[in-house]
Amino acid sequence: MKHLAIFASGSGSNAEEFMKYFKNHHALKVSLVLTNKSNAGVIQRAEKFDIPCIVFSKEDLSHPEFLKILRDNKIDFIVLAGFLLKVPEYLIEAYPERILNIHPALLPKYGGKGMYGEHVHRAVLAAGENQSGITIHLVNKHYDEGRHIFQDKVIVDKDDSPESLAKKIHVLEHENYPRVAEEYFSTI
Ligand code: GAR
Repeated sequence: MKHLAIFASGSGSNAEEFMKYFKNHHALKVSLVLTNKSNAGVIQRAEKFDIPCIVFSKEDLSHPEFLKILRDNKIDFIVLAGFLLKVPEYLIEAYPERILNIHPALLPKYGGKGMYGEHVHRAVLAAGENQSGITIHLVNKHYDEGRHIFQDKVIVDKDDSPESLAKKIHVLEHENYPRVAEEYFSTI
């Protein structure tokens, strides 16, 4: 059995899709949820699935000793699901090609520092794009620049708001992220 850790900073709807998808899975188990926000919705979601959840600070993450938490839990792979802190280099080096992120747009457009959640959808609408989508990619030391593993598109309608676009994107994320992660992690 391989062990997966999910890092999330917010509501955690994608994290919950992983918890559902890998419940009783033969090869991969969501063993740990980690969040940097003590009021993040993901905490209740982890409780519901009886998955241990650890709250940590930005300062905790900056020290390589943080790795002990992952090693103690035998973590093999990491997925970021709405995680808003930069992943430090020591963590990327400890998990080479083993950290996935999902971004709510068609990278390389609308990525980089400060581009998360609603900010991304606002920028896509402000630019008058007629399509957006999701990108699942490896995490490297630059925000949103790791190798792309998967992309899929949605149509942006003229009357879309950041909220309605976010809803469409979430549907696409939930349909694809756990499945794509499963497939990717099974090959490495
Ligand atoms: C998701 O749409 C994810 O793509 C985005 O945050 C949302 C989290 O939703 N991530 C980023 O913008 C990262 N740059 P969730 O908490 O309901 O899973």
